[in-house]
Amino acid sequence: MKAPLLATTLALGLALGRASELSYPQGHPWAPARRGDLRGPCPMMNTLANHGYLQRDGRNITRENAVKALADGLNFNPTLANIMFDQAIIANPEPNATYFTLDHLNQHNVLEHDASLSRADAYFGNNHIFNQTVFDETRQYWVAPILNASMLANSKVARMISSKAFNPTYTFTLITEEFSLGEVVAPVIAFGDTDAVIVNRTLVEYFFENERLPTSLGWKRRDEIVSLNTILKATSAIRNATSLFTDSDASLSKRKLTANLH
Ligand code: HEM
Ligand SMILES: *[C@@H]1O[C@H](CO)[C@@H](O)[C@H](O)[C@H]1NC(C)=O
Ligand SMILES: *[C@@H]1O[C@H](CO)[C@@H](O)[C@H](O)[C@H]1NC(C)=O
Ligand SMILES: *[C@@H]1O[C@H](CO)[C@@H](O)[C@H](O)[C@H]1NC(C)=O
Ligand SMILES: *[C@@H]1O[C@H](CO)[C@@H](O)[C@H](O)[C@H]1NC(C)=O
Ligand SMILES: *[C@@H]1O[C@H](CO)[C@@H](O)[C@H](O)[C@H]1NC(C)=O
Ligand SMILES: *[C@@H]1O[C@H](CO)[C@@H](O)[C@H](O)[C@H]1NC(C)=O
Repeated sequence: MKAPLLATTLALGLALGRASELSYPQGHPWAPARRGDLRGPCPMMNTLANHGYLQRDGRNITRENAVKALADGLNFNPTLANIMFDQAIIANPEPNATYFTLDHLNQHNVLEHDASLSRADAYFGNNHIFNQTVFDETRQYWVAPILNASMLANSKVARMISSKAFNPTYTFTLITEEFSLGEVVAPVIAFGDTDAVIVNRTLVEYFFENERLPTSLGWKRRDEIVSLNTILKATSAIRNATSLFTDSDASLSKRKLTANLH
């Protein structure tokens, strides 16, 4: 009597286990950070740790571990992932460091910067924990169910104006701008259409708010490998969309200017 019941229970457990396995990437169940785990200002690095693509404790992000996590989680090619690691390793203040931790990313004005989409400026408080107030400000500019380059650019520019107006320590260099553009296009790279530079808003909000891959919303890792060129092309669309002018026709502007002089 006992044995069949146990067998049934086991079988049911296995079936349920398999069904729920479908809701997250195979072998990478999501779990929130535990006490003592390190997390940082990057919603994606936190997410990769929450799924165990990176060490769940947020430590020991070596070149090898970063390249593997970005490939397995997001299908980034090794060249791209290596470049990202090269840019990130300065986060570890030790000379000649071979790894960084997610906590290293929190150091203000190293890689972490003002006017983030989902984090408060260091001047106002915690610069690395998700902040709903800040994210709600960002989302005001996400005015349709499918985000495009204009909406993403508008939210970025709005956050910059907000910081510039109200944060007396506002800092945002031309180098910050390059990182910022990459961050703003990142949701398109991870979850959207990189050619059209669009992404489903529901997926992006779910990702930011839960630091979780939106597998349960039907997302899966893209089949096409992501290269540096993929990112540069999409970033260019965001950069262009940050312009506050509606007309970039130089000859037209010149004509108007001449007319004004008369
Ligand atoms: C070596 C890999 C990476 C490192 C070291 C890294 C580091 C960072 C850091 C330090 C920030 C904070 C900037 C700020 O102050 O706002 C950030 C922001 C961000 N990162 Fe990453 N990142 C990496 C890869 C990625 C990838 C692969 C994605 C997604 C495809 C991504 C998505 C984002 C987004 C969306 C933000 C903006 C968050 C906000 O503005 O609130 N990151 N990242
Ligand atoms: C850190 O990661 C490397 C692989 O890049 C691994 O060989 C090493 O054992 C890890 N160290 C710790 C302390 O987890
Ligand atoms: C770091 O690397 C440089 C260049 O290889 C070397 O000259 C220097 O001594 C190293 N520093 C430490 C603390 O290991
Ligand atoms: C969230 O950001 C707002 C605006 O910068 C700030 O006033 C608030 O203190 C932040 N909340 C937390 C929990 O840091
Ligand atoms: C994005 O969508 C908005 C609203 O639908 C539209 O006005 C704008 O032209 C679009 N921008 C781009 C770059 O497609
Ligand atoms: C965005 O994704 C959600 C979740 O999968 C889906 O319900 C919704 O229809 C999508 N929106 C559009 C406009 O495709
Ligand atoms: C951005 O603007 C530049 C200069 O006007 C143009 O050459 C480029 O094609 C634009 N990029 C995109 C992706 O629209």
